[in-house]
Amino acid sequence: MILVFIGPPGAGKGTQAKLLSQRMGFLHLSTGDILREAVKKQTPLGINAKEYMDRGELVPDSLIIALIEEHLPEEGGVILDGFPRTLAQAEALDNMLNAKGKKLSKVLVFEIPDEVLIDRLSGRRVCSNCGAVYHIKYNPPRRDGICDLCGGTLVQREDDKESVVRNRLEVYRRQTQPLIDFYKKKGIIYNLDATKGVEELFSEIEGIIKDGG
Ligand code: AP5
Repeated sequence: MILVFIGPPGAGKGTQAKLLSQRMGFLHLSTGDILREAVKKQTPLGINAKEYMDRGELVPDSLIIALIEEHLPEEGGVILDGFPRTLAQAEALDNMLNAKGKKLSKVLVFEIPDEVLIDRLSGRRVCSNCGAVYHIKYNPPRRDGICDLCGGTLVQREDDKESVVRNRLEVYRRQTQPLIDFYKKKGIIYNLDATKGVEELFSEIEGIIKDGG
């Protein structure tokens, strides 16, 4: 099964994808996580991508499509979190899957008002070592500023600063929202109320995944 998660920054895509990976064995393929790792290691991809990410702009399609071609597995359940984000990426994904004799199973759209997103992003903290995600109000670590999993230091993502967040929202509306129509025509869209709590939303997603339709 191949699932796509679409939604604005901070909607909870990564949180749900990580849970599905832990509890149901999906491979969680997050272009944002792969890019952040590349930035941290200062690979050529990371050096190139950083300037776009810091401004809240999308990294060029050619780089992202090559990255997915490299990481998309031949077998097993996959969640594509943060990809595709443009029509060119969506078309490239269709071509990649066609070439393997596969197709997308379901596209889940995380719907959430801007004010909730701003609250989630301003309170998000990530582990600088293992990448685990926390929230100072909704999912705080046991010890302030310290990762429960590895003891690493929790930091704010560079692109979670308010001015960058506003641009990311704008970019989402302009470049990614049109994908919803693209997938609506294929009849594989499922809308989610992403204001729900983590576990409630997880149960809803689990239901959608288990429903054969
Ligand atoms: P990416 O990392 O994909 O960022 P994003 O889509 O903006 O999504 P986020 O990671 O910000 O949010 P999320 O929905 O995963 O929320 P989370 O679960 O963390 O992309 C970053 C950048 O990389 C892009 O700007 C671009 O430059 C580049 N890029 C990536 N993919 C690209 C592509 N395909 N093409 C071109 N460029 C690309 O949750 C947020 C917070 O809320 C957390 O603190 C969490 O604990 C909390 N939370 C989560 N769920 C709930 C809940 N139900 N209730 C209360 N709190 C919750």
